Amino acid sequence: RPRIAVFASGLGSNFQALVDAFQAEPARYGCDIMLLICDKPQANVVKRAEAAGVPAACFTPKAYSSREQYEKDVLLKLREERIDWIVLAGYMRLITPVLLSAYGGRMLNIHPSLLPAFPGLNAVKQAFDYGVRVTGVTVHLVDEGMDTGAILAQRVVFVEEQDTEEMLAARIHAAEHELYPAAVADVVAGKLSPSRA
Ligand code: GAR
Repeated sequence: RPRIAVFASGLGSNFQALVDAFQAEPARYGCDIMLLICDKPQANVVKRAEAAGVPAACFTPKAYSSREQYEKDVLLKLREERIDWIVLAGYMRLITPVLLSAYGGRMLNIHPSLLPAFPGLNAVKQAFDYGVRVTGVTVHLVDEGMDTGAILAQRVVFVEEQDTEEMLAARIHAAEHELYPAAVADVVAGKLSPSRA
């Protein structure tokens, strides 16, 4: 079965959704989360990994002379664990050619907007403040840019008249937690690829 490493930096609600789905129905999802890679040793996601029985490897980017050196160490760990696919879930760093040359085409990300609208940080706030009536979530392949890779799957979330930013964020996160496990499984199984090369 394909072996997945999830990369995360923060709260880890998407990590949790992936682990819960894959552990509850291993036959349906067809791949296993074998490792969490975290760039913030204090992040809540590390506690979630411990609770779920998923090994966590924490790295401190500041301890390295460059992003490339940092990723070389991460890559060693991925090789050691024979990881096949990388799934970014709130991993707030750009990816360099070190990981892209090893995992290009086998690295996914989720972003809380309908890309290419509102890339980068605080996408839900960006969309809410802009006043859009429709937003959503996007799963895409990772390239060197910020939230720029080829799109794999999207889910629409409507902005309601009475919404606060928090209410909208809650529905966006719920949409992420529903979409991501299914999209990851489909991509890994070869059933879902970008609509445009
Ligand atoms: C998620 O909403 C994810 O889409 C977003 O960070 C959040 C992480 O939450 N990612 C990006 O904005 C990537 N540019 P989580 O730690 O609870 O999964």
